[in-house]
Amino acid sequence: RLPDASALVVFGVTGDLSRKKLIPAVYDLANRGLLPPGFVLLGFARRDWEGHEPFIQFARECAEKGARTPFREETWDRLASSIRFVKGSFDDDAGFDRLAAELDSLEASHGIRGNAAFYLSIPPSAFPVVLKQMERTGLADEKAAGGWRRVVVEKPFGHDRKSAGELNSLVDDVFGPQDVFRIDHYLGKETVQNLFALRFANTLFEPIWNSQFVDSVQITMAEDVGIGTRAGFYDETGAARDVLQNHLLQLLALTAMEEPVSFGADTIRAEKIKTLRAVSLPTDLTSYAIRGQYEQGWLAGERVKGYLDEENIPATSTTETYAAVRLGIETRRWAGVPFYLRTGKRLPRRVTEIAIGFKQAPHLPFDATDTTELGHNQLVVRVQPDEGVTLKFGSKVPGTAMEVRDVAMEFLFGEAFTESLPEAYERLILDALLGDAMLFPDNAEVEESWRIIDPLEEFWASTKPFTYRSGSWGPAASDEMLARDGRRWRRP
Ligand code: BG6
Repeated sequence: RLPDASALVVFGVTGDLSRKKLIPAVYDLANRGLLPPGFVLLGFARRDWEGHEPFIQFARECAEKGARTPFREETWDRLASSIRFVKGSFDDDAGFDRLAAELDSLEASHGIRGNAAFYLSIPPSAFPVVLKQMERTGLADEKAAGGWRRVVVEKPFGHDRKSAGELNSLVDDVFGPQDVFRIDHYLGKETVQNLFALRFANTLFEPIWNSQFVDSVQITMAEDVGIGTRAGFYDETGAARDVLQNHLLQLLALTAMEEPVSFGADTIRAEKIKTLRAVSLPTDLTSYAIRGQYEQGWLAGERVKGYLDEENIPATSTTETYAAVRLGIETRRWAGVPFYLRTGKRLPRRVTEIAIGFKQAPHLPFDATDTTELGHNQLVVRVQPDEGVTLKFGSKVPGTAMEVRDVAMEFLFGEAFTESLPEAYERLILDALLGDAMLFPDNAEVEESWRIIDPLEEFWASTKPFTYRSGSWGPAASDEMLARDGRRWRRP
């Protein structure tokens, strides 16, 4: 199914996200034939560009650099004829009037029938003024437009529960709840969606997906990169707000939720929110909520700076670049099973995975000489890279003794399928144009996630983060957190 003829209006179109992800994703969608005839990409920015041509050139460079699919002149020519630019700043009424007029004119040139999705790829602090402008110019008014009007908002959605609530009501004042698409790009990843298939299209896993069989769950999102050029944003945000509040809690929700009654936005959101509501924090935050900040070190043979030496980071900053926490889920299915979540920058490698650790066999019928690796059954869903699933189990070591060692059974997307994995933003942009909200968290989920994060932030506010060497797996206190429970972090 192709989306309706429509315009994708991007605010902040010259920014990082737009250059690296959004424009390449639009090109890839065009290349795969997934955009409707009558599709228009409309950029809005302050850049001093006259007419559409400079933006078309800019977009071409972004597509050449960032697209997943090969660059083809014929795809490009088709897309280029539907790229438009409007110059303006957010507080400039004339700019928004020009935008409204441009959208009106697209009816005659492209037949978009009043359909438009507005992508806010801008700092949250700019949301209110942009929303006010849209209200003033009637850009969000479906009746006046004669088609659908939607808004796509990027994370971070708020800074805490209170600000997220305020932001939610602000957006809901201008757009109807069904017209708001909140991006968490992890949900756009194929491997994340594969959790639905793995759990609900098989019989093998679901019967043991509970506290009777599962010992603990580890969810890791590790990055080897530092904060790059995002000092201003990052220092105000930190790892917990940047990643834990959204990506990691969404992964937890998909891992732990009950089977939805059907495969749709409302039914899946209903199960996710139930799970998030059941999430409990440890009472002993000192032991079970650990944050850290990277110091200088070595990564891939290169010397890298510590966080406090990064450009534009104040020397006294206490912002965390690593966060780990033990959560519980107070339901019959998960009572007593710890969910350990961690994320960090400047860790040894880029890897995101969900590892389900199963309990050990209750009894051994043979005298094992070396039981250290015995029976540590694990199912590891690797979100990225090397996308796939690994099942670890004990196997007999060939020889006369009954020695058991862990082995692995591997499924790799790259080996099993010839289809290439689309980029998360392709899927999410397409879904927003189709009006399919299944892969977008709703306002209740966002606020519930802040309910979990707020107490952590409050606790951390009066402490200094631990430090860890760049290229290590995080602060020692994080290892101690698991050791206290008789467990160890995986070293993926
Ligand atoms: C973003 C965070 O949401 O996700 C970044 O703001 C992080 O700090 C990025 O680097 C990671 O995304 P991905 O898809 O590369 O894992």
